[in-house]
Amino acid sequence: MRIYDIIDKKRHAKELSKEEIEFVISSYMKDEIKDYQISALLMAICINSMSEAETSYLTNAILNSGDVLDLSSLNGYTVDKHSTGGIGDKTTLIVAPIVASLGCTVAKMSGRGLGFTGGTVDKLESIEGFKTELSPADFLSQAKDIGIVVVGQSADLAPADKKLYALRDVTATIDSIPLIASSIMSKKLASGSKSIVLDVKVGSGAFMKTVDDAEKLANAMVKLGKGFDRNVTAVLTNMNAPLGLAVGNSVELWEAMEVLSGRGEQNLKALCLTVSSCMVSSALSLELDVARDMVENAISTGKALAKFYEWIEYQGGNTSKIRDSSALLGAKYKKSILAEREGYISSLDAQAVGTASMMLGAGRIKKEDKIDHSAGIILNKRVGDFVTKSEPIAMMYTSNEALFDSASNLFLGGVSYSNKMPTQNPLIYKIIK
Ligand code: URA
Repeated sequence: MRIYDIIDKKRHAKELSKEEIEFVISSYMKDEIKDYQISALLMAICINSMSEAETSYLTNAILNSGDVLDLSSLNGYTVDKHSTGGIGDKTTLIVAPIVASLGCTVAKMSGRGLGFTGGTVDKLESIEGFKTELSPADFLSQAKDIGIVVVGQSADLAPADKKLYALRDVTATIDSIPLIASSIMSKKLASGSKSIVLDVKVGSGAFMKTVDDAEKLANAMVKLGKGFDRNVTAVLTNMNAPLGLAVGNSVELWEAMEVLSGRGEQNLKALCLTVSSCMVSSALSLELDVARDMVENAISTGKALAKFYEWIEYQGGNTSKIRDSSALLGAKYKKSILAEREGYISSLDAQAVGTASMMLGAGRIKKEDKIDHSAGIILNKRVGDFVTKSEPIAMMYTSNEALFDSASNLFLGGVSYSNKMPTQNPLIYKIIK
């Protein structure tokens, strides 16, 4: 087999065989195929797309390029979730204890944040003593004992995706539904859970800019999952503004606990209820409305919050510090960002808020950077709110007050005002199974 012939075949929009796709991935992992050849193939795929069968072969080849977690020793109700990326997205911290409190098992490896997007593991590391690294045996025994464990990614899951993604990022080949679907699903399938709920973001802050495209991606991933004997549900959600009010690490933990306590911002709460209901419905084979009643009950009775504390303590975290919200909101310096004019807030650019929070110390510019867990932003106002000039729109938190001016300028660059109340898109567009 020659890579030249495979590129040429795809260039002429012909279907690649399983053997050809496996050859490409295994040779690329052994550095027997050059980056420029894979780049040409990726571009041909972007232009001519791939059939369902090709997408499934590609997913399988990427999935088998590294470790595959075996969760078969756990109960049959393992469930995972994935979000295609969002600012202020602390849903894992909320939905994982909710669904674990209802008999599902969440055994999850999560990422760290890079750039303006936050990572669940960084948020958890705001808790004194919390261990984000566990041995494989401890990972499994915690999942068995309490139904919930979340650690940083230690296993080498789908390494071919890492290599391909880095190349796609610099060759304008991210934007292809079969490539995105195989990239996401290979990692989720390697993570081992039987049920998977995908939060597919749509909007200016997301990969998918339109509901139509997001639906195509969601359908491709749901079909892929079925082919691998997994239950996949995709929830299409709006990502034009940050999710909830808090963006950062300990501030997001505070907000997660607000929702688990039955309070919290309306959109964040609504999204978490929907995602948890889909997880419970899929893992326990229940109708969605039955699952939703169970989820609401887990919050209102305090069962979900109790599971959250159990989880944090089991993993070494000191919960006495986080039970008191003033500790989570206790950055050394705080300063308000003030509205520059009167009017309705018509947009609050998620990327600008994420970048401002990163500037305050909450995120990394390079992988090795240390983060300031106390840093971040909490919004006082949301899109659609009316503000008067100089009214506080948000509060900044940091350990370094010299960062306030640049962060506030970045934030304000992402705020638009209008004289009329703006129309707003729904939060949840569709659920696809
Ligand atoms: N997220 C992924 O993991 N892969 C993609 O290709 C796009 C988004």
